[in-house]
Amino acid sequence: MAEKTVYYIEGDGIGPEVWKAARPVLDAAIAKAYGDTHKLNWEELLAGEKAFNETGEHLPQATMDALSKAELAMKGPLQTPVGVGFRSLNVTLRQVFDLYACIRPIKYFKGIESPVKHPERVDMCIFRENTEDVYAGIEYQSGSKEARKLIEFLADELGAKIDLSAGIGIKPMTPSGSKRLVKKAIEYALENDKPSVTLVHKGNIMKHTEGGFRAWGYELAENEYKGKVVREGEKGEGVIINDRIADAMFQNVLMYPEQYSVIATTNLNGDYISDALAAQVGGLGLSPGVNMGDNLAFFEATHGTAPTIAGKDLANPGSLLLSGTMMLEHIGWTEAAHLIHNAVEKTLAGKKVTIDLASQMADSTQVGTQEFGEILLSNL
Ligand code: NAI
Repeated sequence: MAEKTVYYIEGDGIGPEVWKAARPVLDAAIAKAYGDTHKLNWEELLAGEKAFNETGEHLPQATMDALSKAELAMKGPLQTPVGVGFRSLNVTLRQVFDLYACIRPIKYFKGIESPVKHPERVDMCIFRENTEDVYAGIEYQSGSKEARKLIEFLADELGAKIDLSAGIGIKPMTPSGSKRLVKKAIEYALENDKPSVTLVHKGNIMKHTEGGFRAWGYELAENEYKGKVVREGEKGEGVIINDRIADAMFQNVLMYPEQYSVIATTNLNGDYISDALAAQVGGLGLSPGVNMGDNLAFFEATHGTAPTIAGKDLANPGSLLLSGTMMLEHIGWTEAAHLIHNAVEKTLAGKKVTIDLASQMADSTQVGTQEFGEILLSNL
């Protein structure tokens, strides 16, 4: 009997509804693929509003303790309460558990209207560095004492001239942080027979951060994957490793998406390109994701809590379902994952879909979250 424990956080807003529709599909696909030889044991952890109502804390210690020993977890969206002194729960989870790789596969599903002519040529997986770069949160407001001090230090000690009125942000990027991300991308390409890994950076301008990322990526490939990875333009066999400057890459993924497969990139570039690519295949409703560290893989719906439609049986459970499907692939339960992909395709072909997809599909009929889940189940 193959059993895996999955810790799950229901999430705020549409979280409970999308879970109710998505989880039965995951369990049913496993049962269909493996009978009773494979099973997920779901263990709920509290976070967000639900946790606050029950324990007085948004992220209770019990949740953090369980996650610190966990291998697999899944979450619905968590609301970021607006107000000073409250960090985003998502960011906190990523930082505490050092979930350094944000991984998003972007693939087109037939039937969805897309703004590009050939969305079916898009089949990419983005590995975005999650812990460094300008997201480190080291920023000082224009006119502040701190900004002034830093500007004066830069001028006095390093001869760097910056206007005294500037707001200042720091962009730290390390060889080790970059290499572990690129390593995950190369490993993924090797395991899944992908043709190439592209390092996306802005190293022509930011030579020691973005350019460092590029150099460290190649260094890792050369040192650890000799014979398995080959640099573009050089002789040899294996996964091609190349690099593109971010602005050119945004053009390339629109014009020649078929030339790109696995993308490894820095935090800010990755943020932009994930959403741009998701839009190319029809938006966020069907895009899954995972934040992964060395111990914990935390699968999540990529959308937010959608407060305006919460509780109205309108939300699309697809992103959460496909995140669960990624988890099945991650643990090697690929037959079950395959069944779900086919069920999603069949469901879209049947054109009875949730409101977000109905607006992107000609001649479709709108159904609720729960009914959409039932259709997916019946199409397994
Ligand atoms: P959002 O993703 O919640 O909503 C953006 C738009 O997409 C809205 O029109 C919404 O109705 C629609 N939408 C989102 N998910 C949908 C689904 N499954 N089915 C149908 N329509 C869907 O983004 P927004 O409004 O910026 O954020 C709302 C809250 O969610 C904020 O508190 C934000 O901090 C949080 N958030 C949490 C994330 C996470 O937990 N990973 C990610 C993004 C936002």
